[in-house]
Parts: sequence; C-alpha cells; structure tokens
Amino acid sequence: MRIIIVENYEEMSKKAAAMMASQIILKPESVLGLATGDTPLGMYKELIRMYNENMIDFSKVKTFNLDEYYGLGKDSNQSYNYYMTNNLFKHINIDKENINIPNGMVKNIEEECISYEKRIKEAGGIDIQVLGIGVNGHIGFNEPDVNFEAETHLVNLDEKTIESNSRFFKCIEEVPTKAISMGIKTIMHSKKIVLLANGASKADAIAKTVNGKISPEVPASILQLHQDVAIIVDKEAASKL
Ligand code: PGA
Repeated sequence: MRIIIVENYEEMSKKAAAMMASQIILKPESVLGLATGDTPLGMYKELIRMYNENMIDFSKVKTFNLDEYYGLGKDSNQSYNYYMTNNLFKHINIDKENINIPNGMVKNIEEECISYEKRIKEAGGIDIQVLGIGVNGHIGFNEPDVNFEAETHLVNLDEKTIESNSRFFKCIEEVPTKAISMGIKTIMHSKKIVLLANGASKADAIAKTVNGKISPEVPASILQLHQDVAIIVDKEAASKL
C-alpha cells in the first residue's frame, strides 16, 4: 500500500485526478471504476477542468460504477446514475454506450449481477478503481460482515451507512435499505486501486484499513493484499495512522 498524506481535500482531489488523467493519457481506451458520495466530487471537478483544457479525452474510455441503490431509477435525483450524469458524464465527451452502472430498477437481480460481471470481463477488466470508504470501513457497498462477498451482488445496507447517507435524503425513511454493489473480488481484480478519504470521521476506518487485521468486519482491510493500491488521505483522515 502506498499511503499519500496531503494537506487538505483540494490536494487529495487534485492528486487523484492526476492519477486518473495519467491512466487515460497512457491508455485512451482505459476502463475506469468509479465511485459516488462526497469524497470524489472534487476529483470529478478537476477531471472536468482537465477535459475543458484539452488535457484528456474520454471518447474511448469505459466506466463501471461500484454500486447503485436498489429501487431507485435513473431519474431519481438520489440515484447514483443521476449523480454520475450531473457530476461528471454530462460535462465530458464520454460515449453513453461506454457507461455502466448497475440497474437499480431491474426485476431479475441475479441476472443483472451476472451480466455486470460479464461486461467488466468483456471490457478487459478495470484498469483503475476509485474508492471512497465508509465510516464503518465499507468499500462500494460491501458492508462489515462475517465473510467477504465475492462478486456483484444485492446487499442489505448497514444501519451506519443508512444513517450517514440520510444527509442526502429528506428523511432517513427515504434511504433505500438495499443496493447492488460490486463485490470484494470484483474490486480486488482491478489492476490499480486509488482509495480516497478526508476528514476526522474517516480516521478510524483508515487506521484499521492500513494497520488492522484483515477481516470482513473491516471490508477495506482486504486492500492490504492488493499489489497496487494508493491511499490518498488528508491530515485529518490520517490522524490515527
Ligand atoms: P462519502 O461516502 O464519500 O460520502 O463519505 C464514502 C462511502 O460511503 O464509501
């Protein structure tokens, strides 16, 4: 694991965007694994700036998002599909055909999960996966559990996650209780991983991820076994390292 401690959120975002940009410049048909939440917003803004300054071209890039709430459609402004459109995709020259996000409205969940894994494999696997981290150590929506979930699957969201994500909804009752998420195996198959964290609320999760025992109770701890992980953290998130 490479731990990169930076001054603040802005620096974290710029460093992450630089890694993504260098991946796209070196391989224009890169397959990017993308994350949602507050953490990567600054990175997306920086990537849009780089695109506007003709530094990067997304025309051949393919993307796969980590997860989507189960029961929310594209048009729901709380869906991750909506988030991605508004925070990145509508601002860049990505081909819509190359965007992949689990379908939260699908009837046959098992078929959707199998098809998502198949599409990732057919694209040649994920070249670089961006991750945020939950206060409980989750990555994607792989919540603390007794075993590591393997591939894309339906998850029951943890109480802490529902509580933490309720800030985006009118009330906690509106937060979906299930989601479709890439599994730990899917994430671990990515060639490179960049995990971002900022703020004191993530300090415990980061300390356990980096120095703790590898355990499904802290899903991100499995990253200790990946050969190419960069963890970019601001001073506050790094305060317990
Ligand atoms: P956040 O979420 O970026 O909104 O803090 C991260 C996560 O839950 O993975």
